[in-house]
Amino acid sequence: MTKIISGTEFSANLRAEIKRKVEILKKEHDIVPGLAVILVGEDPASQIYVRNKGIQTKEAGMNSYEHKLAEDSTQETVLELIQQLNNDDSVHGILVQLPLPKHIDEHEVINAIAVEKDVDGFHLLNVGLLATGSDKGIVPCTPLGSMMMLKDHLGDLSGKKAIVVGRSNIVGKPMAALLLKESCTVTIAHSRTRNLPEECRQADILVAAVGQPEMIKGDWIKPGATIIDVGINRIKKEDGSNKLVGDVEFSSASKVAGAITPVPGGVGPMTIACLLHNALQQACRINHIEMP
Ligand code: GUN
Repeated sequence: MTKIISGTEFSANLRAEIKRKVEILKKEHDIVPGLAVILVGEDPASQIYVRNKGIQTKEAGMNSYEHKLAEDSTQETVLELIQQLNNDDSVHGILVQLPLPKHIDEHEVINAIAVEKDVDGFHLLNVGLLATGSDKGIVPCTPLGSMMMLKDHLGDLSGKKAIVVGRSNIVGKPMAALLLKESCTVTIAHSRTRNLPEECRQADILVAAVGQPEMIKGDWIKPGATIIDVGINRIKKEDGSNKLVGDVEFSSASKVAGAITPVPGGVGPMTIACLLHNALQQACRINHIEMP
């Protein structure tokens, strides 16, 4: 029987645990973690993400600060806001929602965030810490959530063959670094990879993060493999209605895999839960307190 790995269930447990730890932090240290989110422009998907982040931050007992800037804001305006938040002691985490409008340099903005307030793990110092196998940095939320589910299902990952399909800075590359840290043999595949189905068929663990609806088919999967589907793609059904699908064709893949995350209800809910985890971690580190 194929196991369906429920991110909805896993993330609810994680958020409950974070909420409990936030209460301890308040009671024992009089500290309330504060998470600031900056949204530049009006991208509809980003607006939904930011709203959900705000709601879940408050539900976890943390302070949520939302900063919405106009689409035509200058880079200087964004950098000034980041400086202000870097200097604000009530803010322990700063997230700039991506993508940014094209006239703003993403790298400049991300690296202007004080490294101890980076909750995305996108700051170059945190990227370097992960790449060198250190535990002292912050791990990007989606790979962190994916890894939590993988370890919960499989236990020790050592020696397993893993393929990450997609090489983005947000998911593919950090996911590969995490798998390597767990002693997997890791392949990073991308649009130029030759014979992708054959590469996928070798893998005990397949992480799909390409943003191509239902690209990975059941006959690309090794029987019994564990599949983490990071894709969230909105497609139009024949009757004209919308449907969310992953990068993996669930109907065929779930017949072959040993375990698979569904879309929706898989990796998606884990991302915000891990953001809250990272915000709590930074609040503890800034105040030189061990995570409760
Ligand atoms: N846009 C899509 N995913 C993410 C994410 O994990 N962090 C930020 N800051 N922006 C995103």
